[in-house]
Amino acid sequence: MSIAIPSELITALRGAKHVVFLTGAGVSAESGIATFRDAMTGLWERYSAEQLANADAFRRDRELVWGWYEWRRMQVMKAEPNAAHRAIAAIASKVPRVDVVTQNVDDLHERAGSDKVLHLHGRLNRPFCFACGHPHTLSAGIPNEPEGGRRLAPPQCERCGGYVRPGVVWFGEMLPKSQWDAAVEACEACDVLFSVGTSSLVQPAAGLPLLAARRRAMVVQVNPNPTSLDGIAQINLVGAAGVIMPALVDATW
Ligand code: OAD
Repeated sequence: MSIAIPSELITALRGAKHVVFLTGAGVSAESGIATFRDAMTGLWERYSAEQLANADAFRRDRELVWGWYEWRRMQVMKAEPNAAHRAIAAIASKVPRVDVVTQNVDDLHERAGSDKVLHLHGRLNRPFCFACGHPHTLSAGIPNEPEGGRRLAPPQCERCGGYVRPGVVWFGEMLPKSQWDAAVEACEACDVLFSVGTSSLVQPAAGLPLLAARRRAMVVQVNPNPTSLDGIAQINLVGAAGVIMPALVDATW
């Protein structure tokens, strides 16, 4: 199937000096990583991501929450970057400046070749102590989690003995300031911003395309489903990121 890429987008990309990709769970969906708003399976089917991704849930039942994140970390380590991650990495060699700003806690952009990825919501592979904040080094190798997951006791901090928590931003927590400030700067300075595979529901990340639009950047959305960004994006490319992003590269360069 050939994808029609609008000519004004091709022209804008050929002349662009600075492109930002804001990505969400949908960019990793074709690598086999479930999105946040997909129904959960196995041990987790009675929960939503929001119910597990917060500090109160960890205080109440840390084995449930740690087990969920270790299960997700296993899935990510077994997964491979897909054609969308690779196309985004390839565009860095075509445009003078490219910034990747992701809400994802996986490392698939980096493994596809994107460097200096801004992780607004933290990273699965950077856990730290819930009590004192000291970073925790995970053992090498893929966690051995059964299909459907299991409860799992978190490790304890080598410095204070507190429990280690996942290295992600939970609901109700601040985003890492350095990553957020860099993302705002990029969105206010870019010529073209792509919002790829995000429901645009979670603030403050969902506000970033508006910063770009206010500065007259071209805002482009890549998503198979409608989102609240539909009315703001100048161009809506409707479909899977793993199909549209390589087609965009082929059509442009
Ligand atoms: P969501 O699960 O909310 O949305 C995923 C989006 O990806 C949806 O709009 C889908 O239509 C779209 N999608 C699915 N398959 C796709 C594909 N193959 N190609 C392109 N798009 C596809 O995930 P996010 O928007 O990333 O926050 O969620 C934002 C934040 O909410 C997450 O970072 C997380 C979550 O709760 C925290 O944990 C703090």
